[in-house]
Amino acid sequence: MTTDPATLRRTLSERVNAGHGPFDAAWQEAVRSVPREAFLGTAAFRHTGTAWEPVYREAVGEEEWLRMVYDDRTWVTQVGGRGAADVAGPVAGAPTSSATSPSLVVRTLHTARLHGDERVLEIGTGTGYSTALLCHRLGADNVTSVEYDRSVAGRAAEHLKAAGYAPVLVTGDGLNGHRAGADYDALVATCAVRHIPVSWLLQVRDGGSITMTLSGWMLAAASIRLTVEEDGSARGRFLACGDAVSYMLARPHERPPRPSFYRHPGVERDTHFPPALLQDPVAHFVAQLAAPSAELVRLDDDIVLLDVATGSQAWTEPHSTGWTVHQSGPLRLWDQVAEALAVWLDAGRPGITAFSVTADPDDQVVSLRGKESVSWRLPN
Ligand SMILES: C[S@@+](CC[C@H](N)C(=O)[O-])C[C@H]1O[C@@H](n2cnc3c(N)ncnc32)[C@H](O)[C@@H]1O
Repeated sequence: MTTDPATLRRTLSERVNAGHGPFDAAWQEAVRSVPREAFLGTAAFRHTGTAWEPVYREAVGEEEWLRMVYDDRTWVTQVGGRGAADVAGPVAGAPTSSATSPSLVVRTLHTARLHGDERVLEIGTGTGYSTALLCHRLGADNVTSVEYDRSVAGRAAEHLKAAGYAPVLVTGDGLNGHRAGADYDALVATCAVRHIPVSWLLQVRDGGSITMTLSGWMLAAASIRLTVEEDGSARGRFLACGDAVSYMLARPHERPPRPSFYRHPGVERDTHFPPALLQDPVAHFVAQLAAPSAELVRLDDDIVLLDVATGSQAWTEPHSTGWTVHQSGPLRLWDQVAEALAVWLDAGRPGITAFSVTADPDDQVVSLRGKESVSWRLPN
């Protein structure tokens, strides 16, 4: 296998385009030009099935490292706030920063429908790779990027400088945007959110766009490009997405810690919806819209819905002709989900592109084409 980075970049660009595109030629060119190895630093995490194991560039050697870097995959670079280069062995916890797979980054940038002269605010600098692609395409003067984590931001600044890009870098909560540079023509988020921060609506010019992933505590996700209207509202329709890969939730939108739980007998009811229906990504998304405060735990073919704040719970178990649902606590989580699933099924199980968002500073709702009388309010 070649270890010439220019050849590896060309191959990566072709693979990304053939497997996930076609994408705007300018983004393909950016992937051919931006050295991903400059952004992965000296270590990344690999999941062993039980823990996150650091892989050090020095230990694997340059050839293997370049092979890893130019694989179209996400490399987790920080777990529970600890960078891969800063740990001596495997760690447990949830990923808190990563070098997102080039195909997902390019898909996001392509989705933003930029022409090449826009002023863009990026949320979630991470390694700086996507920031570098933006700089390559738009010129660094047009790019501002915000990163929440101080150590991640510090590394990204080093990487971008070394690669020759000088965008405006801000360390802070990107959910507040960056008012000093407003108004932006476009905002692109590479961390997911549960609702659209009001500052984003206020800092993007009329007619500008917000490209982001809407996710939540069930970890269902869908990407969307919203157009900001003159009256300060924003609208858009969700986009078809070939695979389930997604961005991590913005830190202030992360799920609360979940204590260990046992299944309460609760109040029983029958349901004719198989719990396995929630394996369908759109059904999963609908469930999350309907019960946004709940997490979803999958146990073989059964599910548990848990709302940590209220202690509400719903869980399923099969019987000879269907399923029993046990619900306890102040919220009837399964009832909420089942009602929404019934609407979706009645509409003929449409794909995610049948759903749209309307957001203004006071209210944000998702609605389903053909079922306009029903809508789901995003949590805030
Ligand atoms: C998936 S990574 C970004 C990948 C990056 N764009 C790249 O190409 O390497 C998500 C990043 O968003 C950051 N993040 C999370 N919440 C944030 C927030 N509220 N404001 C800014 N950055 C945030 C995380 O610290 C993490 O570095």
